[in-house]
Amino acid sequence: MSPRHFLTLKDLSSNELKQLLLRASELKKIHREGTLFQPLKNRVLAMIFEKSSTRTRVSFEAGMAQFGGHALFLSSRDTQLGRGEPVEDSARVISSMVDAVMIRTFDHKTVETFAKYSSVPVINALTDDYHPCQLLADMQTYQEHRGSIEGKKVVWVGDGNNMCNSYINAAALLDFQLVIACPKGYEPSPELAAEHQDRVTILHDAHQAATGADLIVTDVFASMGQEDEQEQRLQDFDGFQVNADLMSKANPDALFMHCLPAHRGEEVSAEVLDHPDSVVWDEAENRLHAQKALLEFLIRH
Ligand code: CP
Ligand code: NVA
Repeated sequence: MSPRHFLTLKDLSSNELKQLLLRASELKKIHREGTLFQPLKNRVLAMIFEKSSTRTRVSFEAGMAQFGGHALFLSSRDTQLGRGEPVEDSARVISSMVDAVMIRTFDHKTVETFAKYSSVPVINALTDDYHPCQLLADMQTYQEHRGSIEGKKVVWVGDGNNMCNSYINAAALLDFQLVIACPKGYEPSPELAAEHQDRVTILHDAHQAATGADLIVTDVFASMGQEDEQEQRLQDFDGFQVNADLMSKANPDALFMHCLPAHRGEEVSAEVLDHPDSVVWDEAENRLHAQKALLEFLIRH
């Protein structure tokens, strides 16, 4: 039987995603109560990182340890992958020794190729195109603070990047309206936006977009791998900062999210990031609980 993978949110059905989010909140409660729960005893997760990480690494590693299993940190710098061993060969070898593989890399095709040749579940822990694990945490966080996100207005402000593409998938699976406010030339995947045009609107004016929002989300202007474009992007994203003025256009109970790391004073003002309506710390913590639900689902499936 071929394994279940999690390369984008669309690898889950709408119902599976909803169940997984509920399970994430249950696992959070179990963890907070201090109850020992080790469904993945002796199981091993390989974690391949070709880009930096704080939250993703800590949450997967802590999650596996709490579940009674183990996580292996594999940096491409120290493995043969970094010296050109084909992804296909690495996938066959690594997957023959572990129970799941998590990959953070540049090209989305790398995780697709790895998954094709892997005998165990593969998890996308961020590519240039998608960041589905973060969406699990974001959706869990919204649900815990405000209940169902169905029918709500979510506003993405900034770059049409990997996070933004994953928000489009979330809008489709959880049935919310997504308004994307980005500068011209920084739109998300045109194919994805076209496929979900019934619930995705792209605007080039952040204030117009933010009106009546239930959730405002942003991310860095320059993602990992785009460091050389930082200066140009700072100019191009003028007018796309999430600040108190922008938040005042949203509904009074609107939340603010950011996957972190954040640059205070660039894509978000310090005032908004550190405001009580900002749930970024819960969002970061929920990476742990949501991914534990994901690991439980994929490895035991
Ligand atoms: N949000 C997120 O994925 O953070 P890290 O890059 O620290 O893993
Ligand atoms: N869009 C960012 C997200 C980091 C978690 C990046 O790809 O660098």
